[in-house]
Amino acid sequence: MSRSTLSLLIAVAIASKSAFAQPDPADPTPLTAKTYAYPSGLACIPLLPYQVDPVTSAIRGPQTGYNICNSTTQNQESMCQTGIVNNIGDFCMWAPPTANSTIGDDEAIVVAWCSKTGHGARLIPAGALAGVQVLVTSEYIQYAGFIDQTKVDMNALDYGGELDPHGADLRGNPLGGLMYSTAFGSDNTTYQQVLDWNTFIGANAFCLTICNPSTSSANQSAFCENRYDLVGCAYNMPNNAKNGTFEVCDADLKTPVGTYVSGGATLTWTQPNVGPVTPPYTPVVPKSSNCVTYQSTALYTSLPTITSAAGSSAATGKATGTGSGSSPTATSNGASALGISSVVGILGTLFAVAFLS
Ligand SMILES: *[C@@H]1O[C@H](CO)[C@@H](O)[C@H](O)[C@H]1NC(C)=O
Ligand SMILES: *[C@@H]1O[C@H](CO)[C@@H](O)[C@H](O)[C@H]1NC(C)=O
Ligand SMILES: *[C@@H]1O[C@H](CO)[C@@H](O)[C@H](O)[C@H]1NC(C)=O
Ligand SMILES: *[C@@H]1O[C@H](CO)[C@@H](O)[C@H](O)[C@H]1NC(C)=O
Ligand SMILES: *[C@@H]1O[C@H](CO)[C@@H](O)[C@H](O)[C@H]1NC(C)=O
Repeated sequence: MSRSTLSLLIAVAIASKSAFAQPDPADPTPLTAKTYAYPSGLACIPLLPYQVDPVTSAIRGPQTGYNICNSTTQNQESMCQTGIVNNIGDFCMWAPPTANSTIGDDEAIVVAWCSKTGHGARLIPAGALAGVQVLVTSEYIQYAGFIDQTKVDMNALDYGGELDPHGADLRGNPLGGLMYSTAFGSDNTTYQQVLDWNTFIGANAFCLTICNPSTSSANQSAFCENRYDLVGCAYNMPNNAKNGTFEVCDADLKTPVGTYVSGGATLTWTQPNVGPVTPPYTPVVPKSSNCVTYQSTALYTSLPTITSAAGSSAATGKATGTGSGSSPTATSNGASALGISSVVGILGTLFAVAFLS
């Protein structure tokens, strides 16, 4: 990683560190304490406020988008900041609202980009998702995968950073960003608010953990830990996602980031305030079972195809060493090029080293 991308990452880290967290007196309620029921059926979204963080006198903000997302806001200019994470075929991630942006610049204003229509948000364009692994546990559900980030308005070279509902002022990145899921109920249709979540996006990869809102708050804090923002997906969300593979597995619980076993003793590592940082341990990917694989064409059936602009920046992705890059005229569904074994090595590098070196 070049110095400039590294310092960008550090800037992101400082901005989102909760070790120094101090509520803004103008808006002292932490985002994780702003709870709103979300009734089944999208048409009922008006139970949410238009914006959960409209405070104009706060140091940051106000919130740039809105939380009421409906058929009127279902378009590629949507400023929806209510993200839905239901299953591998139906989830949203946060990404910038304008083309060629970086997470460092846009962390407070990212918007929801979804893999399925119906959430009043932008759609992740066809072919952008190149591989996704979902690990399901009792305490949290973890998504990790590959994405052509230029298709979700990111600069091709951006190594990105962490987005979470905390931040130095506890108002979250994005400000006012809410998440909901049907995954923790018993019937797959009842939405519950996910109060704690954590996500990284950058270097053409992403990872996202939603913590079970029904478990203890200690477990939600541990499994959605947000203070290790310099060590990326590999340490925060150990996974073995493969580019080209779409799978859902049951998994054992991860060891929360920063906790590791050495010489029989359980030790804690605390991330220093500035990077580059080298954790004293190698993360362990939890054991998984019952994996079911899917064809991306079966999962993602409602995504728009985009042309040109993003393709030209995708080609510059080569310079970062994050992969072979897309064709400059990449308008086809790259995700259908499955099972390229050589990219597994690239994956390891990307997830393990990109945030460290
Ligand atoms: C749809 O969402 C927009 C943006 O939040 C909001 O202004 C509008 O009132 C909503 N429409 C309905 C029918 O709820
Ligand atoms: C919920 O969805 C999953 C797949 O996403 C399925 O395996 C499970 O059987 C569903 N459960 C119910 C109660 O419908
Ligand atoms: C919390 O996580 C631990 C594992 O770290 C697990 O044993 C426990 O069942 C979880 N749930 C609750 C409610 O504590
Ligand atoms: C993206 O922005 C950078 C400058 O930040 C510029 O060099 C590059 O040409 C832009 N790429 C596209 C596709 O507009
Ligand atoms: C993932 O695979 C696609 C082709 O299937 C490729 O274009 C892309 O560069 C790969 N991404 C990474 C990060 O290796």
